[in-house]
Amino acid sequence: LRQDDVATGASSTDRVQLERLIEIGILLGSERDPQKLLHEVLFRSKELSNCKVATIFLLTDENTLRFALRTNDDPLPLDELPLVDPDTGEPVHKYIATHAALSGEVVIIDDVYSETRFDLSGTRKFSDENGIRAISLLTVPMKLHDGTVIGLIQLMNAVDRRTGAIGPFNPSVVNLIKALAAQAAVAIDKAKLIDAQAQLLDAVIRLIAGAIDAKSHYTGGHCARVPEIAMMLAEAASADETGPLKDFRFTDDDQWREFRIGAWLHDCGKVTTPEHVVDKATKLETIHNRIHEVRTRFEVLLRDAEIARLRAVHEEGVPVETANAAFAARRDELFADFAFVAECNLGTDQMDGENVARLQRIAQNGWLRHFDDRLGLSEGELHLRRDTPQATLPAQERLLADKPHHVVPRGDKDRPDPSKRFSIQVPENLYDFGELHNLSVRRGTLTAEERYKVNEHIVHTIAMLEALPLPGNLQRVPEYAGTHHETLRGTGYPRGLAAGDLSVPARIMAIADIFEALTATDRPYKKGKTLSEAVRILWRFKRDGHIDPDLFDLFLTSGVHLRYAERFMDRALIDECPIEEFLGRVPQEN
Ligand SMILES: [Fe+2]
Ligand SMILES: [Fe+2]
Repeated sequence: LRQDDVATGASSTDRVQLERLIEIGILLGSERDPQKLLHEVLFRSKELSNCKVATIFLLTDENTLRFALRTNDDPLPLDELPLVDPDTGEPVHKYIATHAALSGEVVIIDDVYSETRFDLSGTRKFSDENGIRAISLLTVPMKLHDGTVIGLIQLMNAVDRRTGAIGPFNPSVVNLIKALAAQAAVAIDKAKLIDAQAQLLDAVIRLIAGAIDAKSHYTGGHCARVPEIAMMLAEAASADETGPLKDFRFTDDDQWREFRIGAWLHDCGKVTTPEHVVDKATKLETIHNRIHEVRTRFEVLLRDAEIARLRAVHEEGVPVETANAAFAARRDELFADFAFVAECNLGTDQMDGENVARLQRIAQNGWLRHFDDRLGLSEGELHLRRDTPQATLPAQERLLADKPHHVVPRGDKDRPDPSKRFSIQVPENLYDFGELHNLSVRRGTLTAEERYKVNEHIVHTIAMLEALPLPGNLQRVPEYAGTHHETLRGTGYPRGLAAGDLSVPARIMAIADIFEALTATDRPYKKGKTLSEAVRILWRFKRDGHIDPDLFDLFLTSGVHLRYAERFMDRALIDECPIEEFLGRVPQEN
């Protein structure tokens, strides 16, 4: 006995037990994995009480007790014990476990076989099956501060430390286990809350990604599939022990989760992108395709030509043949011009200077407008015309025009926050719906204003994610989500970052984003790219110094491209893809 033990009357065993209890308290406080936590509680209570068998029961959401863990290796009973009898609706007090859970009381039994208060058939059955004759039993509820029972610790057969004999649990042990049960309750509850919170967060993230995917007919599924490629490639990079990526590794579950969340949210800013921009299929499309409006003007011009022919013959005495020939020439010209404008509208071919000049010539055709063009307009449309004087009717109009009201000016809220230091170029106007402006777009269907609107999603992704109160283990989510449009050469957006600023996970995201877009076949009317075509295009991004060459090579050598294709690509599009020609150093052009 130590001096201070003599003074307090404590035995050295008590002291050791107390120290152990404190140790356990610290351990339980720091363990976040619910399964490991239960394991600790189980074995520590067995050790602290020096008993033969320990069992943990947990209360389920269905108001039953479930066998969660036992120190013996035998399979745990799968049956759950209902706290309320399903037939009578009465609380079940006849079993020790259910009684302890219902009442919150500690139940101490010194001799199982002479016990009469409870139905101990289950314990006796366990004894018979395991050859351990049950003698003493201690059942301690794990209770939270407000008295809520979340489970039970049940200990069987206390062993006397000195004699080795099995006997009753002594009161000091009961107190120790009560203290341990209280600590365990808090720790298990905390772990459950953290787990529930993480699950809720994951569900909300999937909900956002699902909403974005649902917005676009063309890119549906992108937000869900990019994380698949990203995770597969990150796993391959983490597994690389000797190659150029040997230094990269996510070291724990938190880092994996942080990356996965970043991948799920990488396009979350797209919630702000208008559908008519995301899915703009023709140049004249705003909410609808304005080619119908333009075609009606061509109809007007054809009628004008017909009227001119009739007038020439009947009022001006022009010979019928001459008038008919003039009409036929004009009609052919209008048909050819409309066909050309309609072709330009599709945006399938690139526009050159000659095409733009022809558009401008066609635009010069005039027609007379007799109707007031401000009737039936919304407040917003009238607002855009507020500085344009109203023309006297009939007014001379052009076949195609860029008008002042086509331009929607950019407000302050449509500019990125200057403190974020984005280098992305912001066009002066928010939109320009000018007909010539749109039809003259050189490639694709988007104007510079709309192209910016599409690219702006990443500005919003970053702003939205940086505004979240992210916990320490999710700090890098904005980085992972917000860098997939940057390039190693510094030509990307929105920050124009370069190789030195881009982490391995950020580089993985760029590859995942491009490859998903290349292989997606969400457009039912469009033929998807084959696997080898997609790989070749991705290779061009490597050749041009946009994506990380080592990760690109790993993407192929690890077979991630194939595994992804097998899971997500149309069978018919998975063709032979000889990877050798894409691997290794790209010869630099002089
Ligand atoms: Fe994006
Ligand atoms: Fe994306």
